[in-house]
Formats: sequence, structure tokens, C-alpha cells
Amino acid sequence: MIRPTVSADAPVLVALAEATGKFRPIEIEALREVLADYFAGEQDQGHRAVTLESDGTIAGFAYYAPAPMTDNTWHVWWIVVDPKRQGDGLGSALLRFAEADMHQRRGRVVFIETGSQPHYEPTRRFYRKHGYEQHALLQDFYADGDSMVVFRKVLRPVGA
Ligand SMILES: CC(C)(COP(=O)(O)OP(=O)(O)OC[C@H]1O[C@@H](n2cnc3c(N)ncnc32)[C@H](O)[C@@H]1OP(=O)(O)O)[C@@H](O)C(=O)NCCC(=O)NCCS
Repeated sequence: MIRPTVSADAPVLVALAEATGKFRPIEIEALREVLADYFAGEQDQGHRAVTLESDGTIAGFAYYAPAPMTDNTWHVWWIVVDPKRQGDGLGSALLRFAEADMHQRRGRVVFIETGSQPHYEPTRRFYRKHGYEQHALLQDFYADGDSMVVFRKVLRPVGA
């Protein structure tokens, strides 16, 4: 079941992100702040956070938002699945849900940023599998040798 995220989910979602081992402490702190801001008002600005429950427990989440000052361009900020449950289609379900939701909100094109380092290769594969194309590489963006990879996908009606 994918449902709107509620504030009581926040500590669980942060713990899940931490458990993946993919994110630096500063990114985990940023997630805490993003979720706090979301419940403090960002959801009224069109931001969306959704929680995936499977077998009665929280197994993942996605956070996506319209890019300010654009014609319905969206960003997926976070998509995370419990490391014990990765590879079982839950991330795909979350991404498909987010894409349908963005499309319904007149979303036109989606951008997702991720890292260039080898430990993000499975994540990059996941995006490619879902029809995202590598659109840009911002060399040494995060640090020397750690670039930003930007993926892009044009949204179409579900089933098109
Ligand atoms: C990326 C992520 C959301 C994908 O969710 P998932 O439930 O594992 O993915 P699915 O089972 O729906 O799809 C599997 C596909 O995703 C890719 N994949 C990415 N990570 C994977 C993992 N740990 N295990 C298996 N497949 C993974 C593979 O391409 C796989 O397809 P393939 O086996 O045919 O190559 C999840 O693995 C995750 O939380 N990763 C760590 C956090 C992260 O990098 N988030 C994105 C940046 S915010």
C-alpha cells in the first residue's frame, strides 16, 4: 500500500535511508530537515511524500516536488527502500506511483539527481530500467571525483 506520509513516519523513513548505507551523514540530516519542512508547510507548496507499507511495516518512501519557476517540471528528491527488501519490486512500485501522481498534477518532465560513484551504479541501473536517460554530468559537483549524474524522463499518460 502506498499512502501519504504522515509525521509519525519521519523517524522510520530517516532510519531506512540511514540503513541503506548510501547516504552521507549530511544527507541524512538534510532528509530530517526536508521532512520537518514538509510537515511545516512545504506540502502546501505542492511537495509530495508517500510511504510504502508492505506486510504491515514501512518498507520505503518517495519524496518529489515541482521545481519552482518552471512549467510543471518535477524533481524526485528521494526514493528509498528498506535494504532488506530491495530487489523485490517495491522501488518500482514507488516510482510508478510517483510518476502517475506527477502526471496527474500536470507534471511534464522529471529530473532525478544521483551520484557518479560506483556504489550508486545499482541506483543508476534502476533509473535506466524505468526509462530515464542520463541527461547531464556535473563534473566534481559533490567533491573531487564525485560528480552529479542527472537523469531525465518525459512523463506520458499511464499505459501510453
Ligand atoms: C534504488 C532503489 C529505490 C530501488 O528500489 P528496489 O525495490 O530495490 O528496486 P526494484 O526491485 O523495484 O527494481 C530492481 C531493479 O533496480 C535496480 N536495483 C537497484 N538497487 C538494487 C538492489 N539493492 N537490489 C536489487 N536491484 C537493485 C536493478 O536494476 C534492478 O533491476 P535488475 O535486477 O533487472 O537489474 C533501492 O534499491 C534503494 O533504496 N537504494 C538505496 C537508496 C538509493 O540509492 N536511492 C536513490 C537515491 S535518493
